[in-house]
Amino acid sequence: PEKIGICALECYFPKLFVNQSDLEAFTGASQGKYTIGLGQQEMAFCSDREDIYSLTLTGLLKKRRQKETYKIVFLFFSASYFVGFFCLILSACFFPTKQKKSGGNKKKKWVVVSRLLKNNGIAEQDIGRLSVASETIADHSKSIKSVVMQLFEKKGNTDIEGVDYLHACYAGTASLFDSVSWMESERWDGRYAIVVCADIAEYAKGPARPTGGACAVAMLIGPNAPIQIGSVRASYMCHAYDFYKPYLNSPYPQVDGHLSNHWFLQSLDECYKLFCSKCKVQVRVTLIFFLNTNESFRSDIVDYWIFHSPFNKLVRKGFARVIFNDFYRHNDDTQKYPVLFKSFSSLDKSLQRHMQAPLDSDRASSCLSGVGGIGGFESVDVHQFKDVEPLKTYSNETYNTELMNAFVKYSSQEYDKKVSPSTFAPRKLGNSYTASLYLGLCSLISQVDASSLMGRKVAAFSYGSGICSTLFTFEIGNFFFPCIKLPDYCIVRVCMCTQQILGNDENTRSLLQTMHQRLNLYERLNMRHKVRPQVFDQILDRREEMFHIEKQKSYRPTHSLDYVFEDAFVLTEIDGDGRRFYSPL
Ligand code: ACO
Repeated sequence: PEKIGICALECYFPKLFVNQSDLEAFTGASQGKYTIGLGQQEMAFCSDREDIYSLTLTGLLKKRRQKETYKIVFLFFSASYFVGFFCLILSACFFPTKQKKSGGNKKKKWVVVSRLLKNNGIAEQDIGRLSVASETIADHSKSIKSVVMQLFEKKGNTDIEGVDYLHACYAGTASLFDSVSWMESERWDGRYAIVVCADIAEYAKGPARPTGGACAVAMLIGPNAPIQIGSVRASYMCHAYDFYKPYLNSPYPQVDGHLSNHWFLQSLDECYKLFCSKCKVQVRVTLIFFLNTNESFRSDIVDYWIFHSPFNKLVRKGFARVIFNDFYRHNDDTQKYPVLFKSFSSLDKSLQRHMQAPLDSDRASSCLSGVGGIGGFESVDVHQFKDVEPLKTYSNETYNTELMNAFVKYSSQEYDKKVSPSTFAPRKLGNSYTASLYLGLCSLISQVDASSLMGRKVAAFSYGSGICSTLFTFEIGNFFFPCIKLPDYCIVRVCMCTQQILGNDENTRSLLQTMHQRLNLYERLNMRHKVRPQVFDQILDRREEMFHIEKQKSYRPTHSLDYVFEDAFVLTEIDGDGRRFYSPL
């Protein structure tokens, strides 16, 4: 099969959220610590009506509302334009009422899933692989995938490969790669794969609590996809105890947040370095007949960046780190990288002026503790960063902080253009672990219109504590070159334009447009229910209690059904044997 990738995307998040400024005041944190210091606006969380199974089920099925919205719009226009009579008849034919079609609550979910799949032209039988990535464990043996199988077995499809994937926030990426490999293998039987990434991130009271969140993203993987997975990827995997969950009677992780931040950035350095060198090899091979070039990968070759997002500030720092890596590798190449060099040398001049006065420690710390902790730019001597190998900067914490502050500031314009579109939803929902990176992709699709996304290359950095990390790319629309835009941009652009003129792109564009419409992120985020931090705390206390063994038997959820979206699945009961039951609301 050709052009394997993401054919369709769905995203589901809980209805409840707490505002981060309210949380700052409630927890006694200094004003701006969560909103500016961490860069988060709101945080999603679940009541006891939802768990990881219900989130996954709903994530797969969320679409009923869409059809109903169409129906309302259709009825409205039909009435306004005096053709109501005919249109109403048509609407009755094409959109029969819920009760008639579903035959009541019991059958509703099967109708919904078939609609979801049909919206994308897919029947339940067309799914040959389903895998769920999550670190929110509700059962130490039975997979989440097996629970989701309820949606398929009633339609007679029990021949579906795949199980759950576990490794912190990284598992979704492993699951995506394996699904693509399955399709590329001899064992592929021609059917689609589904990858679901779902997590509820909850932290004990304390500094990590504002970095929670929740979300599920489901992706349909198939050939001729509008979003393809690039052929080059670089991984960095090693052993560390930065974030882990050793206590099986608690939903909360054991986390050393600062260590985790360190590993996130160092893993990114390692991946980026390797990615650049892998691209260099591939460019040489790919272009041997076109150009004799030594061109290597640079961050400006990529149109958009998506990062795993524990909290937004770390994403900003991650991008700054990428720019610093470029600076280190290319700072002497003034001819080839004039733009890059010019920017940095003007930065140097301004710094030189400020550096006439020596940097005393008081001035340095006041600069560093400025808004968002990035106020130190003007007092940092960038010259000193020129020849320092990125991986060596971690040995001196103060030095590394100064460096990061300078490069966060320096890269801010590029960040707004290339990274910010993917951070829209993660800033409002918080960390959703395995789903976080793919929520970033949903955000990008929601923020940038389909035409502008065509032919774009998106870099994606997936990080899971512990540690597994990979840097890879998504290629949107049709791509001639698997790895990189050529140094001479025009050639590629001309090729792409020709390809667009010759056709085939219209289909891709409309698929992207459909994704954008169905995700409908703005509207759905605005439909959520905000609660006070006191209520948030109480709900989390209750959810923590649910982890105790006695509560895991014979439990009936008590929180209000108003805390759950209309089209969601809810947990109705955990019986005396610990079995969980769900029904669509
Ligand atoms: N106004 C503006 N900024 C402020 C303010 C304020 N009033 N107060 C503090 N800040 C800034 C600080 O300068 C700091 O910025 P910097 O990072 O640029 O230096 C930032 O806010 C955070 O302040 P800290 O004092 O470092 O915060 P604290 O130590 O209390 O906690 C932390 C932050 C470590 C991120 C914590 O929330 C945590 O542990 N979170 C969990 C992280 C996690 O889950 N990691 C796993 C990642 S992998 C995965 O996703 C599983």
